[in-house]
Amino acid sequence: MATIPAGLDLVALDAERLRDVLELDMWAFPTGDDIEEMLKIPNPLSWDRTFGLADPSDGGRLVGLHASYPFARCPVPGGRLPVAGLTWVGVHPQWRRRGLLSAMIDVHFAHCRDRGEPLSLLTASEPAIYGRFGYGLSTRKAGLTLRRGAALRDVPGADELSVVFETATAARHGELVARLHGSVERPGWVTRESAELQRYWMSDSPVFRGGAEAQRILVAERDGEPVGYALFRRKGAWDESGSKGSAHVQEYVAADAAVARAIWGRLLDLDLVVEVTVGQLPLDDPLFLQLVDVRAARPSWQDNTWARIIDLPAALVGRRYQADLDVVLELSDARLPGNAGRWRLSAAAFDVPTVERTSSPADLALDIRELGSAYLGGFSLAGLAAAGLVAELVPGTLARASVAFGWPVGPGSSWIF
Ligand SMILES: CC(C)(COP(=O)(O)OP(=O)(O)OC[C@H]1O[C@@H](n2cnc3c(N)ncnc32)[C@H](O)[C@@H]1OP(=O)(O)O)[C@@H](O)C(=O)NCCC(=O)NCCS
Repeated sequence: MATIPAGLDLVALDAERLRDVLELDMWAFPTGDDIEEMLKIPNPLSWDRTFGLADPSDGGRLVGLHASYPFARCPVPGGRLPVAGLTWVGVHPQWRRRGLLSAMIDVHFAHCRDRGEPLSLLTASEPAIYGRFGYGLSTRKAGLTLRRGAALRDVPGADELSVVFETATAARHGELVARLHGSVERPGWVTRESAELQRYWMSDSPVFRGGAEAQRILVAERDGEPVGYALFRRKGAWDESGSKGSAHVQEYVAADAAVARAIWGRLLDLDLVVEVTVGQLPLDDPLFLQLVDVRAARPSWQDNTWARIIDLPAALVGRRYQADLDVVLELSDARLPGNAGRWRLSAAAFDVPTVERTSSPADLALDIRELGSAYLGGFSLAGLAAAGLVAELVPGTLARASVAFGWPVGPGSSWIF
């Protein structure tokens, strides 16, 4: 178990301490929002997965905090796995750089093991923080800034869909959003499985609006059945030349290509809106190919989720491989040495693999961080090797393993947690 910094206690937190949690969070993440307003927002935390470091010499004041979201059915290539979404990580500025985060990471890893979660994902406030703990960059996200009327290619069936615009509320749309979002099979597509997260996501507090309107939803229907949605907000603006309104699409889900085409066709034709932004698309989102002129949409990309393999054999057995594979991996893992050493991974394409310890010579050598990057299929082992992060010990094994570790659908997550 973790070494807690001297003078501090590890404490389990509960709803009674919500104000303390928010106060510490506001020290970690500066905001102009009023804590009384923040207290009104349904809290997304799962309290049985929320822990603090408290200073007993200061009345038990909370100085460190971390939590995890339960993603019990997180899509990975070819399957679903229980994953812990590390979140709400914060240390009071007075206590920073004294090892609090390091201790909390060890606590988190121990809890993941106890709960049988072989993988942890997170979205990072700063990309430089988590690599040292064995988290590898596993997915990227793309943003687009689209002008009104941006042309889309035709997709058969798109015109047959009907589209409904409404104000998004938990009561009316919570179940629909949770269901459609949870049915996406893209690796890394964590969904809001807990009731707390679902309530939070649909709460539409004025704190989240930033001067924009209430949360709107566009629901696409086929034969009266919802098959996709987009959550978005518009913001009105005017200058001497007229309307300069904008819309921001927070998230969209489409069951198929025609639904995506129908949703974007409507989002790109909103009255008084000259610009539409979206910031959280997977790199292979269909919108990139449906746009006639993607360059005009000013694409950009950023790091998205980071993956940490907690239990190597369980994680490797928990996904499928898209080509036959028989490879010996030599792993280093300073923080979880139980993962280190040589492992033989054998798999027939798209079938259940086997993973076992071996004394055979290794084909590839890498750190657990790099395996985290390759795990969801977003970064190839060959790409990691090109950056000097994977060593090919037996010629020819890198290409074969790279193909096997890939996946037809790229990884992505539609929201920041
Ligand atoms: C990021 C944060 C949690 C780090 O906590 P901390 O208790 O200061 O971290 P630790 O003392 O355990 O540092 C562990 C190591 O990580 C490094 N580190 C910590 N924060 C870092 C950062 N922001 N960037 C780069 N390295 C960082 C430390 O230098 C230290 O390195 P070392 O082992 O080589 O000495 C804290 O600074 C914080 O609350 N920041 C604001 C909120 C935030 O960004 N939270 C993360 C949300 S994803």
